[in-house]
Parts: sequence; C-alpha cells; structure tokens
Amino acid sequence: MAPRPPKIVRRVADLRAHVAAWRAGGESVGLVPTMGALHDGHLSLVRRSLAKTGRTVVSLFVNPKQFGPGEDFDVYPRDEAADAGKLAALGAHLLFAPKTEEIYPDGFMAKVSVPGLGDVLEGRSRPGFFDGVATVVTKLLLQAGADRAFFGEKDYQQLLIIKRLVGDLDIPVEIEAAPTVREADGLALSSRNAYLTKDQRARAPALYATLSAVAERAAKETDIADLENWAGKELLDAGFARVDYIAFRDAETLAPWDGKPRPGRVLAAAWLGQTRLIDNVAV
Ligand code: PAF
Repeated sequence: MAPRPPKIVRRVADLRAHVAAWRAGGESVGLVPTMGALHDGHLSLVRRSLAKTGRTVVSLFVNPKQFGPGEDFDVYPRDEAADAGKLAALGAHLLFAPKTEEIYPDGFMAKVSVPGLGDVLEGRSRPGFFDGVATVVTKLLLQAGADRAFFGEKDYQQLLIIKRLVGDLDIPVEIEAAPTVREADGLALSSRNAYLTKDQRARAPALYATLSAVAERAAKETDIADLENWAGKELLDAGFARVDYIAFRDAETLAPWDGKPRPGRVLAAAWLGQTRLIDNVAV
C-alpha cells in the first residue's frame, strides 16, 4: 500500500483543532519544528517522535526572523512536496506549513530573547539570529501544545536556548534532544550542505575531525586559548575560508572553560566559500 501523506494544515486554528481531537482521544502529541529541506537528521527526530508519542506534527516554516541581511533566506531550499513525501514514508500525522502572515500577521511586535546564552558564539556572529529562533519556537510550542518537542544536537546552542526559554516561560512541553546525524565521513547533515561544491564537500569533514581532535586534547591541555588557536589554523589549512569561532565551552552555560571537572562542549562555525557550516562535539 502506498504511504499515506500527512495532512497539511496552514492555519493555527486547524493545527489546534487536530491536537485537541487527538488529546480528547487520549493520545499524546509530539512536535518536530523544521524549516523543511528535510534530511536524515530531521527524519531521525520524526522517528523519535513517532516512537514516543501517539501523534506527530512536523512544522515547516522558513522563519524570516532568523535570517540576517545578506543571509540565504531567499535561496534557502524549499520543496514542500518532497518533504511531505518523506514524512508520508515515515507515517507522520500532520504537516503544519503556515504562510508567513499566519505566523507574523500585520502589526506583529513581540520578541522572545534569551540574553547571555544567546549573545555568545552563534549569537555574536549572527546578531538577532537567536531572537528570531526563540520567537518562532515559542510561538510553535504554544500553537501546537505538544507534550514533547524534538530538536537536534547539531544546533547545540539553539537547543540550550530553547530549553532555557521553555523553563523560564513555564511552557508545558518536554524538550528532547537527539544526537547529530552524520555522513560516513563525519560531516553533520545540514540542509545547507546542498550549497557545497564538489571540492568544498571533500574538505567539509575537516570540521568534525578538528572538533574531535580538540575534544580529545582538551582533557589534557591547560592552555585552552592555545588549543583553540591551533584548531582555527587546522581549519584554515584544510581549506576553510574563515573561522567564526572554534571554542571549548562549559556544556550547560557556554561560558569559557574554567578547568573544573564538568561536561564540556567544543563548538565551531566556519566558512567553505559562501557556505557557513556549524558543528559541535561533547567532551
Ligand atoms: O533548527 C531549525 O531548523 C530552526 O532553527 C527551527 C528550530 C525550526 C526554528 O525555525
């Protein structure tokens, strides 16, 4: 039998009506927020949701508020039919694909901001990015009213910010993190990998390799700045055009590593030509 495509709704009221009907039938609901261009990383989140909740909603919304001037909003890959096909194959129940006006109607003014966590690393390189993410994720969580929402560790800082805002704003949802899905050579799956030329694609795994090398050396190294500088040079030698940051941080606060025995995280953002890649590993 051909897989049944998920029902597509574009209005918040319709999303809420579906969720209410499922709840009335005693079913739990999972939400997987995405910007589309679905790859195996997204699909692993959908599978997790299907395994843990009775009904799975996937949202597909390329959020203009998280793109800065000159970033790739206009060319960001969009193929709703292909995405719906992938979700059908898995058995996701509902695709919430709102138009921009549904999320940001005329006169929209609110902004959710998580300063501190949102100001460092990605926040420093992409001013306004996390306010855009925090605002849309807050809206999606409130709109869907799901029991659980699923996010990938690939966007590690985003994950911390979402956990923080959910706690701070008492949003009744459990945030579940899923490990980064990688190609066989270590490159983290990302919708933006599609921008890489053949040569850049061949160089791209150096990001994960360098992060892993830092993670391995971090435990023994006392001069973290030295280690971070070494890693930045490694990336440039591997053909990256620019390194926004490669940093060893406290895994919960993202504060610079203070040498205390606590979980750490190495995070990086670097450019291959016009394409900006991010990745991170646990220490
Ligand atoms: O990670 C993403 O794809 C986006 O930042 C998210 C969480 C869907 C918000 O637009």
